[in-house]
Amino acid sequence: MERVHFTVNGIKHSVGCEVSSDVTLLDYVRDKIGLKGTKYMCREAGCGACVLSVRRGDTPSYGVNSCMMSVTSCHGLDITTIEDLGNRKKGYHALQTTLAEDSGSQCGYCSPGWVMSMYSLLQSNPDITMLEVERSLGSNVCRCTGYRPILDAFKKFAKDAPRQITLPDIEDLHICKKTGEECDKSNCEESEWCFVDKEDIIEIKLKDGRLWVRVLSVKDIFKILTREGDSSYMLINGNTGKGVYPIDEYPRLLIDISGVQELKGYVLDQNLIVKAGTTLTEFLQILKTVAKNEYFEYLLKIYEHVQKVAHIPVRNLGSIAGNLMLKNKNAWFVSDIFVLLETVGAQVTIQISSLVTRTLTMQQFLKTSMKGRVLLNVMLPPLSKEHKLVTFKVMPRSDSARGMINAGFLYKMKSTTSNIVDSARIVFGNISPTFVRATATEKYLKGKNLFTNDTLTTALKTLDKELVVEENPGEPPVAYRKQAALGLFYKGLLKLAPENTVNPRYRSGAIKLHDERPLSRGYQLFETNPEKWPINKPVTKVDGLIQTAGEALYVEDLPRFHQEVFCAFALSTVALGDLVSIDSSKALAYPGVIAFYSAKDIPGANTFTMPDQLLFGSTEEILCSGEVKYYNQPIGIIVAESRHIADTAAKLVVGEYTNVKEPLIDIRDAKDDPNRTTAAMTMEATDRGEDVVKEIKGLNSIYGQYHFTIETLVTVVNPSDQGFDVYSSTHWIEGVQMMISKALNIDQNRVDVHTRRVGGSYGLKLSRANQGAIAAALVVQKLNRPCRFIQSLTTNTRAHGKRLPCCSEFNAGVNSSGQIQHIDYNIYEDNGYTVNERFSLIGLEVFNNAYNKSRWNYKSFDSTTDTASNTWARAPGTLESIAMAELVMEQISYEMNLDPIDVRLANLDQEYESSLKEMLDTILFTVVMVPLP
Ligand SMILES: Cc1cc2nc3c(=O)[nH]c(=O)nc-3n(C[C@H](O)[C@H](O)[C@H](O)COP(=O)(O)OP(=O)(O)OC[C@H]3O[C@@H](n4cnc5c(N)ncnc54)[C@H](O)[C@@H]3O)c2cc1C
Ligand code: FES
Ligand code: FES
Repeated sequence: MERVHFTVNGIKHSVGCEVSSDVTLLDYVRDKIGLKGTKYMCREAGCGACVLSVRRGDTPSYGVNSCMMSVTSCHGLDITTIEDLGNRKKGYHALQTTLAEDSGSQCGYCSPGWVMSMYSLLQSNPDITMLEVERSLGSNVCRCTGYRPILDAFKKFAKDAPRQITLPDIEDLHICKKTGEECDKSNCEESEWCFVDKEDIIEIKLKDGRLWVRVLSVKDIFKILTREGDSSYMLINGNTGKGVYPIDEYPRLLIDISGVQELKGYVLDQNLIVKAGTTLTEFLQILKTVAKNEYFEYLLKIYEHVQKVAHIPVRNLGSIAGNLMLKNKNAWFVSDIFVLLETVGAQVTIQISSLVTRTLTMQQFLKTSMKGRVLLNVMLPPLSKEHKLVTFKVMPRSDSARGMINAGFLYKMKSTTSNIVDSARIVFGNISPTFVRATATEKYLKGKNLFTNDTLTTALKTLDKELVVEENPGEPPVAYRKQAALGLFYKGLLKLAPENTVNPRYRSGAIKLHDERPLSRGYQLFETNPEKWPINKPVTKVDGLIQTAGEALYVEDLPRFHQEVFCAFALSTVALGDLVSIDSSKALAYPGVIAFYSAKDIPGANTFTMPDQLLFGSTEEILCSGEVKYYNQPIGIIVAESRHIADTAAKLVVGEYTNVKEPLIDIRDAKDDPNRTTAAMTMEATDRGEDVVKEIKGLNSIYGQYHFTIETLVTVVNPSDQGFDVYSSTHWIEGVQMMISKALNIDQNRVDVHTRRVGGSYGLKLSRANQGAIAAALVVQKLNRPCRFIQSLTTNTRAHGKRLPCCSEFNAGVNSSGQIQHIDYNIYEDNGYTVNERFSLIGLEVFNNAYNKSRWNYKSFDSTTDTASNTWARAPGTLESIAMAELVMEQISYEMNLDPIDVRLANLDQEYESSLKEMLDTILFTVVMVPLP
């Protein structure tokens, strides 16, 4: 029987026909070998909680998102988990202790992932600088600590740190590959050191019937495709594509091509030919190396852009071919690699049968069916000195995010000193599924002086006309993308223009802020009175070390129970309507599915909101019993043998709906509807100034914000001798206990709720943990088997409300200094479909932020929209109120053409005046007087 072999923390492991195609390296280390230190949240390579360190042969270790890698892809890898770095038995690793001591771990759920990312970085680059540390950890999300203490801790390991912490050289440690312990190798036989000594095709019939084949040559790929057919297959390289387009069901045939050496590396002849299986990390190295050659200097610009693709662990796995194939299959995919290659006029080579290859331009490649074909390489041409290249990527955050818009501009000038365009290539991504190049603008520019106002004006007009931006749900609005694209064209010219052609006033427009941002710094001072020590003596957080070492246990870290089942919510597919019936037959027929329950199976009250509480004025259903209130409301529970099966089968549940209506989802449309909006709080002005030079009106919105709990909602319920043992990631233990008892019609004392620790909650787990906990308890009541309910990121996002969106409108009269003379100010909260967890109560205290409120007529309103009931999130009410007050100040300063700081100072409440002025002076002094390191 063929198997895949690898080591975890030096111990040999192998997998074969006992695993299914959906089992990732993450699942394997956590569930099969019980190493729970590695956490997870998104399963999309987006949060970094699952990062592990891997090594192939003698190459340095690198970090990977273990949620991306199929365990069957791990052949020949040495894998290191957080447990092996340090633990309570063998002592902790310096990264673990430093992170804990520097207060870099709050809930601790993200901490092992951070440690492993940093560990892997140091392995691949022991001479890392502080700036590099800061720019290399976009792979990891921390939702509670804040990044400053984490980065401060890790910067101590940089070579330019004021007092560098050095780690022992891994080579000097002589870690035994067999035992994972330190040893001097004296008792080992040489053969034991190399356990993968023979490379061969590996074929495994997986547990779920799929065929996994690890091939070693392109010829093998065609051999397997010819034998098995190409009706249902996938080539698997890094497998990170599923982080962009999730895969519920793998095809029947999975060909692992990550070991095909002829798809790796590069050749430099006339062109730079980079083999398509090269990872993006290797590609970066190649670009840097080859850029030293004449005519390839431009590759440094490509290098800078590729550094903005995804983040390091994804680049360590993801390949050029995988990226381009995502674009080939999904026209909307915003591929940076495609934009870059198209800009410089690169080509690709594909193999269409075992003997025939074909060379294609990038645009021809997009239109070519790749079924049964292999992408072999990309060819980047030499570019003479007459070429000017600039590329951009606009991202929603500075790191690790797909582009909202990306662009590349290549201008060939008549000569190295000429400003006259010989030819141009203007490429944009994320305009529409078909748009690639701005050909009309390219044509217009030919023969023009690139850096004159006339050229700029006409080129922008031409570009504006040919950029037909299309709507795509989830992407930024059309107007935004259009404006950003036009802006980038202009920015490109500013960047390339010779010094003497641009007014110095506009030069700053050429700066790429992200690239030029210096090392950040921050500090926090807290004073305590030593006379009272040990009472208020600062100490390292007691749990800090077990958190950074992955020893702290969260709900999902509970070992699997005998006969345990998993469940998932089936969600409505309409926003408003009547649920007439539910067809669960397809889901029940799915292999591994055990049961389906709907509202009628709940023996008690179908509600999860606590009665008679300040937070809850109305009830919310656990499962929809008839009237659907919002899109993706839970309508049933699927129970299955595994989490993956439950999640997959839940999508097969089909509801039948009548009376389906269009939902209203925007607070701005609801605010003036008396059926949806009721007055909440009022505060009248006590003063009114008469020095009005301008009346200013404003309307501002803050949209919903997903909580992004680093540990999603999780419950494990076990039948106990009395009733139920419930392990819930909740912030309201009593709520879980009470609502389970009400829903299941059992006494409260039969429900024991355990919450040892919660991974980042930010509000969601205050009230929404109840719903999943009740669902899991219902399953236990029905089946008398333990049940684990891990709500996926998708369910967490869709089925539950967000931070309350809100909008405010105001009408203010101001004097010439921007000081408010009078203001009517209304704020509307979007509660979702029902009014619970209001923040108007809190807003009353802070709506004016630090400004003089005596002239404010303040009113707050509760509104409803046809969306999930929204919930408190971090700083509920205060954040929204403060942000809205600041927007008033911004608008006044904009409309009055005044310095925003002066407007704020003119409106300050006297109570805060002296302390805020002092703060401002301190900030100005720090920024202006103290040079940055
Ligand atoms: C969190 C995250 C952030 C990302 N951010 C960005 C970004 O900012 N910009 C950007 O451009 N991309 C981004 N990506 C996409 C990333 O670049 C791709 O996921 C990666 O390059 C895919 O490579 P892979 O080897 O993992 O492909 P796989 O997932 O293994 O395969 C993807 C597809 O390519 C096919 N395939 C693979 N190799 C070949 C071959 N040689 N011939 C034919 N078909 C082949 C496979 O069959 C499959 O259909 C991001 C991805 C993630 C997960
Ligand atoms: S990155 Fe793997 S679970 Fe989030
Ligand atoms: S400590 Fe980082 S998410 Fe909680």
